[in-house]
Amino acid sequence: MKIAVFGTGYVGLVTAVGLANTGKKVICIDNDLEKVEKIRKGISPIYEPGLDALLLKNLERLAITSNAADAITASDVIIIAVGTPFDGNRIDLSYIRQAAREIGEAIKNTDDYKVVVVKSTVVPDTTMGVVRPIVLEHSGKQEEEVGFCMNPEFLREGNAVEDFLDPDRIVLGVSSPEVEAMMREVYDGYRDSAILITNPTTAEMIKYTANSFLALTISFSNEIARICENLPGVDSEEVFNGVIHDKRFSPIIGKERITPQLASYLRAGVGFGGSCFPKDVKALRSFSKGLKVDGKLLDGLLHINETQLEHVFSMGLKKFSGKARRIAVLGTAFKPNTDDVRESPGVKLAQMALGQGIQVAVQDYVALSNTKALLGAQVEYYDDPLEAVEGADIVFVTTIWPQYLDISEEDFEKHMPEQAIMVDTRSHFKERKAKKWRHRIGVGQPLPVNGEVEYSLRNNGYGIH
Ligand code: UGA
Repeated sequence: MKIAVFGTGYVGLVTAVGLANTGKKVICIDNDLEKVEKIRKGISPIYEPGLDALLLKNLERLAITSNAADAITASDVIIIAVGTPFDGNRIDLSYIRQAAREIGEAIKNTDDYKVVVVKSTVVPDTTMGVVRPIVLEHSGKQEEEVGFCMNPEFLREGNAVEDFLDPDRIVLGVSSPEVEAMMREVYDGYRDSAILITNPTTAEMIKYTANSFLALTISFSNEIARICENLPGVDSEEVFNGVIHDKRFSPIIGKERITPQLASYLRAGVGFGGSCFPKDVKALRSFSKGLKVDGKLLDGLLHINETQLEHVFSMGLKKFSGKARRIAVLGTAFKPNTDDVRESPGVKLAQMALGQGIQVAVQDYVALSNTKALLGAQVEYYDDPLEAVEGADIVFVTTIWPQYLDISEEDFEKHMPEQAIMVDTRSHFKERKAKKWRHRIGVGQPLPVNGEVEYSLRNNGYGIH
């Protein structure tokens, strides 16, 4: 079986390399010649742990071309993994439509049965209502001559290779039993038990529901955290821990309690970012408006996410009565193990500060060049976190890079000015809070009782009086 993958972004490339790793012949299509050259040499154009090594290992089964027509004609299954940019309200399907047109044109003169797979995240009915008619129109083929599948991706940036190689589920929304058979062959190198068969529109809905649910958990945690911040001595971490111990959440099997990874989303923070959650929840919300569904929950979770950033920013600013002169942002990647800065809380905090005339120093281990593309010369860039915090009134720890844990609080205190404060937005240093670390406050955590952080967060009118 030969497989073509349209688009070599992080989804397309990881999919292509992951399928090649199970012995399939895969040809990637991309019109960015620089990317094509890199991939041909076995160099991944994106930062994703483990991808370079897997790419090199599978180079002989992996081809790449900018000639879409030849690649499509030679393949049995064509996977569309192009971008679906977001205009603030809905996703733009122009790259999807373009790929569907090219597929239609290319298969016009072939006799073989082809399956067209949509892997890009698209709103319900895109595969059957948009892609299918375009492919059929441009190919002149009948319904039974081409199959369609919606196969959403569930990769987490930074863990994409691991997630692809050991998937928790492979959702195949198929248009016919024949498509199901071909798609099972595509994934025959993976655990059969992970495969869920459904129709294309349900598959599209599964993807949006999964991301909206995770985003909802984050916003729920942040709202609970804001309540806890107003209750003396109440730490939201302890509150969530009490909830997680519900056996419906963390079942006790034998004598062992199984804590789900989902527990990590039940935690106060700086809100979600990245290229998926913000975009997917907004796209689902605008799609649901079109269906006249009252979407207050989705609106609410988006609102909490937007205001959480302002909330965290003001936690730091309060100490200086709104007059901080300089801040440091530790971590501009939207999460660890990626250089992606799209919708990154760290970048947004920097922009908020710049908007108020505050000087900004930013630090990251891998995302500085992408950060420069967004923030330019307005901010100072540092590789070393201890250099970045020098002279800063407020230090926001926004990305939970594990490397920060190697820095002692003594070192932070030595480099931060006397009056400075650290806002530990994701409780990265929570284990150290018992030591009454003078500089640190945690989102969703009580202020140190006898600590030297003397100001109160309890002045928003809703707390205990
Ligand atoms: C997310 C989903 O987790 C994947 O399952 C999905 O395939 C992917 O979107 C996608 O649609 O492509 P990703 O955006 O890579 O993956 O990252 P997550 O680790 O889920 O984090 C998303 C955002 O939520 C980040 O800003 C992260 O810092 C934030 N987050 C995560 C929290 O604020 N709190 C948490 O407890 C966990």
